[in-house]
Amino acid sequence: MTSTLIDRRHATLGSHSPLFYSTPLEIVRGDGVWLDDAEGRRYLDAYNNVPHVGHCHPRVVAAIAKQAATLNLNTRYLNEHVVTYAEKLLALFDDPLDRVFLTNSGSEANELAIRIARQHTGRTGMIVSDWSYHGNTIALAELTTGLTAQEALAPHVRAVRVPDLLAEDAPGEAELVERSLAEVDRAIEELQAEGHGVCATLFDTLFTTEGLVEPPAAYVQGLVDRVRRAGGLVIADEVQPGFGRTGSHWWGYQRWGISPDFVTMGKSMGNGHPVAGVVTTSALQGEFGAANMFFNTFAGNPVSAAAAEAVLDVLVDERLRERAGETGALLRERMEEITAPYARLGPVRGVGLFFGFEIFADDGRTTPDPDTTRAIVEDMRERGVLLSRIGRHDSVFKIRPPMVTERSHAELLLDRIAESLAAQL
Ligand SMILES: Cc1ncc(COP(=O)(O)O)c(C=O)c1O
Repeated sequence: MTSTLIDRRHATLGSHSPLFYSTPLEIVRGDGVWLDDAEGRRYLDAYNNVPHVGHCHPRVVAAIAKQAATLNLNTRYLNEHVVTYAEKLLALFDDPLDRVFLTNSGSEANELAIRIARQHTGRTGMIVSDWSYHGNTIALAELTTGLTAQEALAPHVRAVRVPDLLAEDAPGEAELVERSLAEVDRAIEELQAEGHGVCATLFDTLFTTEGLVEPPAAYVQGLVDRVRRAGGLVIADEVQPGFGRTGSHWWGYQRWGISPDFVTMGKSMGNGHPVAGVVTTSALQGEFGAANMFFNTFAGNPVSAAAAEAVLDVLVDERLRERAGETGALLRERMEEITAPYARLGPVRGVGLFFGFEIFADDGRTTPDPDTTRAIVEDMRERGVLLSRIGRHDSVFKIRPPMVTERSHAELLLDRIAESLAAQL
């Protein structure tokens, strides 16, 4: 039955539309941290961050159903829902971040932030990480470094290496910061010399596509300072870390002690309903609004706003951010114990409910081992747990379960990882 569905899919969506696993999974139902496949097998979902408050959370489902049965319309009419949502969302930010644009995807959010930054600065130069992903529009494809895209890096883009304190060959912190910021200085000089100037830096505040690299805070602060001194703005991509995933903060940028000009978000915002946005300052929003009639047909519609509001309410009422911190700490501690006996495994990376560790081919941890990493991802599926992999070599496990992951789920995940490592290494 599944092969027929694959054939039909290839015949319509094309064979390049990506699917997980060598034998793709057909998922038919979700509930909290659980997913059921078409054959009735149940999986612990340790991968999907879009169903942030759990698959089919009853409050989100009810909010969507109620609003869909009442009214769905665009934001050119006054409606309570979008305003209430904006108020609740903005309450999670400090001054001067006090305005929001709503969009339908993370790509649209990043694209809009860049457009506003370009108009504000009158420049185009962008600084991004050399292994990152921010979306699928032309402007974003031209700065994509961490996913296949035929577009070359645009002449106005410079990609810099984000330093990693956990890298096997990392020098001392001071040297790492100095060396990496010198690369930022060179990028800025080049952009200026070539007449692009510096428009903005755009980075994922948890450096997830990079493989959860862990830069020193002084690096992130130094990058921000340098871009600002060159007249550029700062775009914090919170599509992955946002809405409390780090446990300690609502937004990943807060861990670095910086204040961005734009915070872009998506994925988890509507628990699967397509809602995304850009939080910025009233000054930037006002300047852009005065010169552009920005309208977005679907964004901020009452059903989307009701979904997003329900997500925020659940996060607060069920203390999911705090719980992500607690469960994440437990997971990390046990994961460190489980991985310690294996010389081929790198240190546990990440924070809150987004973490992983790297597999190497050798005990000296010099050669990443994507094949074994993939084999373990497949093996974990056989053991009833879904996860994936990321990083420059696709050799770092990507574990980012829904925020409703409880201690018992964490223990199941850890037990299965321990079994899989014992079987595969
Ligand atoms: C860090 C980051 N930014 C932006 C995006 C783009 O979001 P979307 O797929 O909603 O356009 C993604 C998607 O994976 C992402 O991981």
